[in-house]
Amino acid sequence: MEINGHTRLIGLIGNPVEHTLSPVIHNGISKAMGVQSVYVPFKVEADGLATAVHGAYELNILGMNVTVPHKNDVMEHVVELDEAAQAIGAVNTLVRVEDKQGYKGYNTDMMGLRRQIQEDGISLQDETVVILGAGGAAKSVVYMCLLEGAKKIYLLNRTVEKAQQIADSMNRIIAMSMQDYNQITEDNLIVFQATSIGLAPHVEDVVLDDIEFYKKVKVGVDLIYNPANTRFMQLVTQAGGRAYNALKMLLYQAVIAYELWHDRKVPQDIIDDVYIELKRKVYPKDNIVLIGFMGSGKTTFGKACAKKLGMEFLDADEYIVNKAGKSIPQIFAEDGEEAFRQLETEVLMNWRDHLSNTVLATGGGMPLRKENARLLKEIGRVEYLTATTKEIYDRVKGDTNRPLLQCDNPYEKICELMKQRKCLYENAADVVIDTNSNDLDAIVEDMMHVR
Ligand code: ATR
Repeated sequence: MEINGHTRLIGLIGNPVEHTLSPVIHNGISKAMGVQSVYVPFKVEADGLATAVHGAYELNILGMNVTVPHKNDVMEHVVELDEAAQAIGAVNTLVRVEDKQGYKGYNTDMMGLRRQIQEDGISLQDETVVILGAGGAAKSVVYMCLLEGAKKIYLLNRTVEKAQQIADSMNRIIAMSMQDYNQITEDNLIVFQATSIGLAPHVEDVVLDDIEFYKKVKVGVDLIYNPANTRFMQLVTQAGGRAYNALKMLLYQAVIAYELWHDRKVPQDIIDDVYIELKRKVYPKDNIVLIGFMGSGKTTFGKACAKKLGMEFLDADEYIVNKAGKSIPQIFAEDGEEAFRQLETEVLMNWRDHLSNTVLATGGGMPLRKENARLLKEIGRVEYLTATTKEIYDRVKGDTNRPLLQCDNPYEKICELMKQRKCLYENAADVVIDTNSNDLDAIVEDMMHVR
């Protein structure tokens, strides 16, 4: 996107800000929607906060996120405060209000968590909720639970006074010391883990490790998203409950802020794409995924690349043939193309969760479904191997195991299919690699270089 005189600035104030993931989300949305705004992190010291907020207004900045350590102090510098942000006592989003010459403060963390649990099908209506922790994050959870109609809320904290303070300011909350967890007698609990314990690299840590407690838990939500499967989540699932991390909360707090700033809805399809990018940033994978038309060299160059990098090589079509127990032409003939694509999707979901250190050569049609293209991105870095129509034709003309080419004029068929697919391949790829030269070493070098 071109930055020009119409470009609006949005951003983040905090300290530190170097590791923020918010630019991935906001700039990803702007790019996908063609919106002229750019998101930039700003490191702001505590004693510069007031100047920064007023300066941002004067610079015509459309809106800002606010993070540690300014979430509380920034409340003194807003011209208006959303009711939830006021009750929670923390602001993470500033929205420009022209006629008041300043910003209105919101708490989209709370709204983001609310949207996440709604999407995950968790209802808090009349439920008993346990919140572990009583810091800033826990306050947002408490407020959301009240909003969503929880019947009873246990707030457990190492420092019970902090839990008590929150309980004193809000209804339906029972403050307790963390060590008294076994005094909770109800079961079917919905538990939010809102302490900082278990955050990477301390992935083995957990605030409560008694399996008897977890037997009473039906749903556990960890506000930590790194690692993806925290010890807390593992204990919940081991005891038979459902567990979620809060990466979607991170996503949705940003989407909601974005919608407030730009006064427009972000379509779900764009949110889904941005979520994949976010997951790739937070949980990077070490696989290389090769896509491209038949004959583009996925097997030849893929094998050479895997060998050079000491990686495994996997051919998706071969794997599917083994799994189905019949050849691809047979699957097409007996079950139809749709059944074959469905089989591909199932296999991809499995690889997304288990594949590592592998060069994966995919079938030519694999990225054509949007769902599959997303899964491929989740599996690894997607490289699109290309060649001209003539080169492709020369490579595949004698091959009888290509169902799509069993026709009178295969050259024309290739032209037509390539025209249809080029754009889809490009959209599904992180990088495009030209294989026309047939120079194995140079092509493998390109494939490795972009890794
Ligand atoms: P956040 O804004 O992420 O909630 P916070 O306000 O610093 O961060 O709160 C951190 C939470 O993790 C608190 O509930 C804290 O308990 P205390 O209030 O007793 O400090 C909890 N926490 C952090 N380290 C802990 C530990 N080692 N054992 C138990 N609880 C811990």
